[in-house]
Amino acid sequence: MKKYAIAIHGGAGTILRHLMFTEKENMYKQGLQDAITIGEQILKMGGSSLDAVESSVSSLENFPLFNAGKGAVFTNKGTHEMDASIMDGLTLEAGAVCGVSNIKNPVQLARLIKEKSGHVFLSGPDAEAFAHKMSLPTAGPEYFYTQERFNQWQEVKETDSYQLDHTDKKENSEKKFGTVGCVALDQYGNLAAATSTGGMTNKRFGRVGDSSIIGAGTYANNNTCAISCTGHGEYFIRAVVAYDISCLMEYKGLSLKEACDFVVKEKLVKMGGEGGLIAIDSYGNIELPFNSAGMYRAWKNSDTELQIRIYE
Ligand code: GLY
Repeated sequence: MKKYAIAIHGGAGTILRHLMFTEKENMYKQGLQDAITIGEQILKMGGSSLDAVESSVSSLENFPLFNAGKGAVFTNKGTHEMDASIMDGLTLEAGAVCGVSNIKNPVQLARLIKEKSGHVFLSGPDAEAFAHKMSLPTAGPEYFYTQERFNQWQEVKETDSYQLDHTDKKENSEKKFGTVGCVALDQYGNLAAATSTGGMTNKRFGRVGDSSIIGAGTYANNNTCAISCTGHGEYFIRAVVAYDISCLMEYKGLSLKEACDFVVKEKLVKMGGEGGLIAIDSYGNIELPFNSAGMYRAWKNSDTELQIRIYE
């Protein structure tokens, strides 16, 4: 069997061990394990990296503790506006969607956009109409309602501030950048990446983060790497993070680790951009750098045991 590899994330931020209850930590770890196992099985059976990243991200979207799909945060209007994207490293084809409110699995819509719409990036109600045409499962606001997210929105809804996942007033320093993502290398040497998010709590004016922007939050190219980001989207857009890493490898000959460390630990830090990313190259090397206190993450390749981590 040829080598395959996969990595996932469930968001980064000020995730502190002393503020985490064991029961909740175990729930997060279970969510990560379930999601990576689905993708890994696809790769092991000879499936494509594209199918693996779509399936793993769908699983993360269905898990209510992560800020994507079912667990998406509330906007300033008390709605949910979700963003997602997917990219195929073999063909450089990509699909992306932003501002959808009733799609159970936005990553699946991103894939359909890539393959069936004739476009790359669709938004809002018209993207939902396309999803309807494609018979993609939809759900009403009650499906996306979770008490925890509602409480987080209540804390800030009368203010102009927005929050990346949340800053819990009781746990003043906790700040999480909720997004989910997956990168994979399949047995045929093909890379793929996918990312999905509910964005920021209390976001306004149709705000869109980096997750649905190809080159910022997501990128895949068989010549270099596959990347999925999580963090303060405004900075990740301005730094064109995912494509920047690919470019450093392609044009300057940096290794995956050198490129990731430079962008996440030097460039973003200088700009003030907090967060992290998962990355994989065509040799199956995996990097999971972040400049925040923690990042929900898991990784596995054909030769090694499954690893699941939350903190530094
Ligand atoms: N990184 C997710 C967002 O800023 O929306």
